Amino acid sequence: MKVARGGREHWGSRVGFILAAAGSAVGLGNIWRFPYYTGVNGGAVFVMVYILCVILLGFPLMFAELSLGRRTQKNAVGAFLSVKPHSPWFLAGSLGVLAGFLILSYYSVVAGWTIGYFIESLLGVFRSFHNATEVANYFKAFSANPVKAVGYHALFIVLCMLIVIRGVKAGIERWSKILMPTLFGILVLSIIRALTLPGSFSGVKFFIFPDFSHFSLDTVFLAMGQAFYSLSLGMGCMITYGSYLSRKSNIPSNGIWIAGLDTMVAFLAGFAIFPAVFAFGLKPEGGPGLVFQTLPNIFRVMPGGVVFAPLFFLLLLIAALTSGISLLEVVTAYFVDEKGWSRKKTVLITGTIIFFMGIPSALSYGKLAKPIVFGRTPFDFVDKLTANYLLPLGSILIAVFVGYIWGRDKASREIMDGAPGFKLAPLWLFLLRYFCPVVVAQILIFGFLSEFTSPAVQAFTKILQRYFIIADIALLGVVAVWTAHFFLRKGRKFSL
Ligand code: TRP
Repeated sequence: MKVARGGREHWGSRVGFILAAAGSAVGLGNIWRFPYYTGVNGGAVFVMVYILCVILLGFPLMFAELSLGRRTQKNAVGAFLSVKPHSPWFLAGSLGVLAGFLILSYYSVVAGWTIGYFIESLLGVFRSFHNATEVANYFKAFSANPVKAVGYHALFIVLCMLIVIRGVKAGIERWSKILMPTLFGILVLSIIRALTLPGSFSGVKFFIFPDFSHFSLDTVFLAMGQAFYSLSLGMGCMITYGSYLSRKSNIPSNGIWIAGLDTMVAFLAGFAIFPAVFAFGLKPEGGPGLVFQTLPNIFRVMPGGVVFAPLFFLLLLIAALTSGISLLEVVTAYFVDEKGWSRKKTVLITGTIIFFMGIPSALSYGKLAKPIVFGRTPFDFVDKLTANYLLPLGSILIAVFVGYIWGRDKASREIMDGAPGFKLAPLWLFLLRYFCPVVVAQILIFGFLSEFTSPAVQAFTKILQRYFIIADIALLGVVAVWTAHFFLRKGRKFSL
């Protein structure tokens, strides 16, 4: 085993690291959340904005987290502490660890549903439905059943614990190397099946030809939140995974692979889902139930549905598992590094806590389907709190920390180390220092303002939005001019 000074475990290979980090990024966010947001936000327009967000916000933050992790060889909290000791900056890391507990607690509930749907589709349950109402009622009954919801949630946490307890190389990396190729294989099979259905082309159109009448400012804000969520950014997950990288690793190229694979899988998931949805004359605006309530209708009647239903839910489960382990690893690395606990003890304790924290979310579609936390069910509360507030806040803090506190020189020296040909460091720092904090702060502000339904606040929000969008366009213009200037200076060649 390759062990660094001080005994820190390292990834066994570059491919292993990329698959593990892409495994973290590729998850329910890609196959469940992305199609559902695309479906309710007008299709291709959302996809285009999403891709812009990945390029302008996702890449810079991905590089920032990986660099900080590799430099410090520490967990989310330790990374801040070792760059800036005796300062409150470590709280930015603590926020990340807290987000890890919270996200996994409800993520595991949806992941639990995928286990349930996998098992039940193997048993042929979906074949027995006669119409869409039966499918919808089945989902309602399934998610409201406390024994199933809590039981499958527990099962998912235990699966994550079993992998994380083995450590970085023998656990996370080894399983990612098995699970990720399986995931790609199943995804490709699903796409072939979907595209060969008669009438599938209108789904392809919905997904790739933008209809700008659907464009709104909300599209931009939702796409940004989705980008962070999908790329596992904003809570130190990539700091933690980066901390198991050796000095020789090439951060820009690894980061491009991770974000590229993640975006590709989201895209492929769209090609597996929308053609099938349209081929059967169903609506793409299925919301959170798109995958659990709309798709089973298709499996019910589709030729080969008996095989494709369990395969599809297995795909979802695998995607969720490689993401769940990354969330558990953020929490685990913190206690192992900072508190000196053994990995085994940490995983047992934190896994148990996360299981109990998730019970209210698991019951949110049954007994607790009431607005009891700030007007929301516990599930919705944790989902919104993390995706709309904690991740954007964490991202701003990481961008400011790397861009200003760690500083331009040290950060660019770090990213170039292992990637001497990387000519885009100045552009990276520019986006990190000026673009990310400003734009992401807007998600936070609008997320917060949209909580209030009073007409006065809404009118105020409208006005504010108009100013912000003008500021954003100006900022984009500056980025464009700056980039052109950067490339036109003699002798600059694009290279990684
Ligand atoms: N990115 C994963 C998904 O798309 C979820 C996830 C894993 C995550 N680790 C994270 C989200 C860290 C935010 C932060 O499903």
